[in-house]
Amino acid sequence: MKKIAVLVSGGGSNLQSIIDSVESGYLRLKIAVVASNKEEAYGLTRARNHGIPTEILRHGDYPTREEFETKLIETLDGYGVDLVALAGFMRVLTPLFVNHYHQRIMNIHPAILPSFPGTHGQKQALDYGVRFSGCTTHFVDEGTDTGPIILQAIVPVLPDDTEESLGSRILKEEHRIYPESLKLWSEGRLLIDGRKVTILPGARTKD
Ligand code: GRF
Repeated sequence: MKKIAVLVSGGGSNLQSIIDSVESGYLRLKIAVVASNKEEAYGLTRARNHGIPTEILRHGDYPTREEFETKLIETLDGYGVDLVALAGFMRVLTPLFVNHYHQRIMNIHPAILPSFPGTHGQKQALDYGVRFSGCTTHFVDEGTDTGPIILQAIVPVLPDDTEESLGSRILKEEHRIYPESLKLWSEGRLLIDGRKVTILPGARTKD
């Protein structure tokens, strides 16, 4: 069974959707470790509640991003992970980390990429006045939210939306497409060719 690490910096509701999907049998993979750069991240508590090992690496303890990432790589490799799933991990990753896990880092972004990359995707969409927004799962490359797109889900932007109300409508979809993207990956059904990800058909069942 493939192993993943989930990296969190905050509440970890996406992590929870992944844990729930594993526990329900929808996702057949092992969450080998949940790591965070913030010891107060509630995602760590969620992991502990489900008996998943946790690691805390405070980025402030390392003089450079590269030294932080070298330690992070050493830690994650110690668990033998096949894929790193970013779930609200609020650190920019340098080429050192991205190249080490080439095409093996997944992220979820709260907007329809390539629109509104970076932080506050929900607010950017509201401020711009778009009628629809949503979320995107993608593999991570060296840019900010620029990697090959896996799945996207659309939600309407309503006239009286706030960042919070739009955010929670988007989050509901995040909790659906992140487990689905991981499922496709775990079944070896994501073929990356340059910018494009092809989704291969699933195995046929008897009925
Ligand atoms: C989500 O909106 C996700 O799209 C973004 O960070 C947020 C994490 O939320 N990358 P949570 O910690 O999973 O609740």
